[in-house]
Amino acid sequence: MSVLGRTAALVPAAGRGERLGAGVPKALRLIGGTPMLVHAVHALAGSRSVDLVVIAAPEEAVERVRALFLEDLGAEILVVSGGDTRQASVARALIGLPDDVDVVLVHDAARPFVPSEVVSAVVAQVRSGRPAVIPALQVTDTIKQVDGLEMVVGTPDRAVLRAIQTPQGFDRAILQAAHAAADDDTATDDAGLVERQGVGVHVIPGHEEAFKVTRPIDLLLAESVLAKRRAGRAHG
Ligand code: CTP
Ligand code: MG
Repeated sequence: MSVLGRTAALVPAAGRGERLGAGVPKALRLIGGTPMLVHAVHALAGSRSVDLVVIAAPEEAVERVRALFLEDLGAEILVVSGGDTRQASVARALIGLPDDVDVVLVHDAARPFVPSEVVSAVVAQVRSGRPAVIPALQVTDTIKQVDGLEMVVGTPDRAVLRAIQTPQGFDRAILQAAHAAADDDTATDDAGLVERQGVGVHVIPGHEEAFKVTRPIDLLLAESVLAKRRAGRAHG
């Protein structure tokens, strides 16, 4: 890996947000008056460990998204058109990545409040030679596996389960090879594709504030996290 390589963050943001409810695409939903995607990109650029951000936007909103990032955030911002699945959106963002990028993060637009320390920690671990690094939390619910009839078939030991967040970080060549080798486009995270290649994936501590906005109740939590941060800034 070249010491001079740049770090890029790919941001899949082309989802419809069906579980959140109809309306504007989820990435453009406002939290504290600002689109969720803008919060997410600020979190990445603000970590200072990301040089370039490539956003995979909803096809019909590419120009609208470009217009959100006219000011200098300290990282170069590119906007491409996303695909029909998360995996397809990431694959589209990978196309045309400049040659001098050697570390790639993939971060959900739907995780607007990932702390910059988590972003920096993922980059540092990949730069130190780990091919794939993902942040995670312990699971708090008991998880059961069920069959097609909703009958329980097993209860995995909770101690060995992790709830995976983003940004996930990769050596660029490994992520690209994993996407190129995929024979369908249904993966819900990128580490899943890398695992299929037999590459070791390291888990590091994630953060509660890196939660994904998925359902309406998550918007309430997001508004609260933002209000808490803004109050902290005003009084600190
Ligand atoms: N995503 C994407 N392209 C898609 C589908 C999802 O870029 N075709 C992105 C979403 O914008 C989101 C991330 O992948 O930032 C995680 O997906 P998810 O939380 O499932 O978002 P949605 O697919 O938009 O939501 P839902 O599944 O409820 O429709
Ligand atoms: Mg989805």
